[in-house]
Amino acid sequence: MKKISIFSLFLLFGISLNISAALAADIILTSPETAGGKSVFQAINERGSAAQTSFTEREISQKDLSALIWAAAGRNRDGRGWTVPFAMGSDPYIDLYVLLKKGAYVYDPDKNMLKMLSDKNSIDRAARQNFVGTAPCIFIFATKGSGPRIERWAEVAVGAMTQNVYLAAGALGIKIRYIQSFNRESLINILNLGPLSRIIAIMPAGFQ
Ligand SMILES: Cc1cc2nc3c(=O)[nH]c(=O)nc-3n(C[C@H](O)[C@H](O)[C@H](O)COP(=O)(O)O)c2cc1C
Repeated sequence: MKKISIFSLFLLFGISLNISAALAADIILTSPETAGGKSVFQAINERGSAAQTSFTEREISQKDLSALIWAAAGRNRDGRGWTVPFAMGSDPYIDLYVLLKKGAYVYDPDKNMLKMLSDKNSIDRAARQNFVGTAPCIFIFATKGSGPRIERWAEVAVGAMTQNVYLAAGALGIKIRYIQSFNRESLINILNLGPLSRIIAIMPAGFQ
């Protein structure tokens, strides 16, 4: 009897350690920045792509990462709307993935967190152009779900999302570039994407 209870204790301890390890790997993002920064007109006037040259080693802070993700795919208007328009007011039909040096993540807008998918650094496998692999962070935009409506609307949504990210990055002094020539097969493997998910674009971000 005593042996069984000690064993159960070990089992419980092991399980709870595992659970906390999984939670520790996720990234809880900070509340969105809704004031400050450059004016939207200044950001539009200065919008431009990162140069096709190496990024520095400097990483994007968690606060700035949170702001970029919120601009791309976050909730606004006190949780009633989204920062970009989704057709018929539906929930996002685009998933936002993030590659960081410490792993690969998918954004959960309801919990405002990045859920870890892998703890490997896969950044240099994302695209053929060498400068992309030097970025400390890469955003990946891929369809969520399927059907003719999503096929028609996906590019429009990614256009709005990536433009928001361009402007937010500009306001924060972060360099970013829209990239269509990415390594599709590598990304499918890294993110464990199903056959219905279609990657539309990636954006390396950092400092130059
Ligand atoms: C649909 C699309 C695909 C693009 N694909 C790539 C790409 O594969 N590699 C790259 O380095 N830049 C890519 N770009 C970035 C453009 O080359 C860049 O926006 C263009 O040179 C204009 O520069 P600007 O954004 O600074 O105005 C792409 C841009 C768009 C809109």
